[in-house]
Amino acid sequence: MSSLKGEIKISPSILSADFSCLEKSVEEVKDTEWLHIDVMDGHFVPNITFGTCVIKAIRSKSEHVFDTHLMISEPEKYIDEFVEAGSDMVTFHIEAVEDVESVIDTIKESGAGVGISLKPNTPFESANKFLPYVDLVLIMTVEPGFGGQSFMHEMVPKIREVRKAVDDLGCDIDISVDGGISPKTAPVVVENGANVLVSGSSIFKGDVRLNLQELKRSTQVI
Ligand code: DX5
Ligand code: ZN
Repeated sequence: MSSLKGEIKISPSILSADFSCLEKSVEEVKDTEWLHIDVMDGHFVPNITFGTCVIKAIRSKSEHVFDTHLMISEPEKYIDEFVEAGSDMVTFHIEAVEDVESVIDTIKESGAGVGISLKPNTPFESANKFLPYVDLVLIMTVEPGFGGQSFMHEMVPKIREVRKAVDDLGCDIDISVDGGISPKTAPVVVENGANVLVSGSSIFKGDVRLNLQELKRSTQVI
């Protein structure tokens, strides 16, 4: 898995891609480091997307780090399947599990990178103690479930808080933000410490290459 922690990475969310030609959409974002894959079960979130078959189908078409975001209940039951399908990073919601440490261990044993995610109303204090054991913290900047929502500016202090904790710990942990990330909102999240930008509608709606260029320019990573 290529890792450039500390640098800004873009993780286009295929949730907003054209599923009738997913291979083409993935190809259009081939220059980004990561690809964000939103798995929803209609239970943990009020929407259903797709599972391992889609990940398997695009794995051979892409060199991206597959950044799988599980918005599902009981994620521990499915981790091996998602890793076998081709996920490099597996992120789960701490609100979805009873034993966070055991899920972290299961992901580690599978060989994938470990991410923990927090819904907007979940304070960072509930995740702080797990920091030394994870590779990524995913801060939701919208309520999980749907693409195309507006960025919640009130999440900025949480991003800052996570950045401070990661820096204080001196660990190499990616800080990812997900929801409403666009050239308008990217600068504030980067300034406050995020280094992975998940973005769906602002990349895949319209001219993908141009959108990507604008997003990168907004964070001065081109
Ligand atoms: C929402 C998903 C996001 C979504 C972001 O629950 O986790 O990854 O694709 O979409 P935009 O960038 O359109 O807000
Ligand atoms: Zn996501």
